[in-house]
Amino acid sequence: MTIQSSIGAAPFSTPAAAPLHRPRRLRRTPQLRRLTSETQVNAANLIQPLFLREGLTEAREIPSMPGVFQHTRDSLRKAAAEAVAVGVGGLMLFGIPESKDPQGSGAVDPDGILQVALRDVAAEVGDSTVVIGDINLDEYTTHGHTGVLGPDGDVDNDASVLLYARAAVLQAEAGAQIVAPSGMMDGQVRHIRAALDEAGHHTVAILGYSAKYASHFYGPFRDAVESSLQGNRRSYQQDPGNIRESLREVALDLAEGADMVMVKPALAYLDIVRLIAERVDVPVSAYQVSGEYSMIEAAAARGWLDRDESIVESLTSIHRAGASQIITYWATEFAPRLGR
Ligand code: PBG
Repeated sequence: MTIQSSIGAAPFSTPAAAPLHRPRRLRRTPQLRRLTSETQVNAANLIQPLFLREGLTEAREIPSMPGVFQHTRDSLRKAAAEAVAVGVGGLMLFGIPESKDPQGSGAVDPDGILQVALRDVAAEVGDSTVVIGDINLDEYTTHGHTGVLGPDGDVDNDASVLLYARAAVLQAEAGAQIVAPSGMMDGQVRHIRAALDEAGHHTVAILGYSAKYASHFYGPFRDAVESSLQGNRRSYQQDPGNIRESLREVALDLAEGADMVMVKPALAYLDIVRLIAERVDVPVSAYQVSGEYSMIEAAAARGWLDRDESIVESLTSIHRAGASQIITYWATEFAPRLGR
């Protein structure tokens, strides 16, 4: 078909059909792909978990997490400095005590192992990154649960949150800029906020492990912290099939004063990350947990996956889903190849 111009110029033709759409045009060269790329993970948004083990004379590699170490005080300081040097945005510290008891006393001891770790790391890194303490009792209890047990054998919620509140104040005194309660006890954020404020730590922020699922992907972490847990955490962590429960947990944590919220694990729960990111106006973090780490490492060790590309893809996916921060055991290693 031709259309005759009204001023009598040469006719021009219109396509017989709609043009063939060619999305591949923008994928043709690395430059075009870079220009049109939608998601970049930056080192600034990564948080490196680090473990200090009481009584070690040498750093010890965690068997189920090759490349991840239980640190000595010296090697912890070095690991913290290395993370800072490559621009890692935050460090999340865990302590592993030499001895445990049913009350988890080590968590609320001013000289407990995590307080030591926080003091050492805070002294090492100053304010060049953000130092975060994990609040929980599970590394410190002989039964391995995240709180103290009541007469019925289940975790006593209200007794446990009082201990978390004490731990929070000790961690703040030791240099934590953010505390992250991971025990999934009701009211934990409210108690921690009140205790921090009362002790004058108004500036210390709370990162709630708000939507934390009862996941089997935490398996290798239990190795990492020498957990003595028998049984499971289903009376306090969430059922993997539930969605609405996460919305409720997040809403409660925000009402109680959480400054940031977390979804955990990450990769198997990206729908939850996306949902929460759309609903809230605080930063949403996601924890790429130990099992996520070990799966890729194990497959890569057998030559079944391209390790580095798989890791970058997993981080990109978590960020794309809506996580502003990613807690990942690969933070220090991958920060240099990401943006700042
Ligand atoms: C509790 C805590 C756990 C993890 C982080 N904090 C273990 C649990 O809830 O059983 C898991 C992290 C991981 O698997 O990498 N202290």
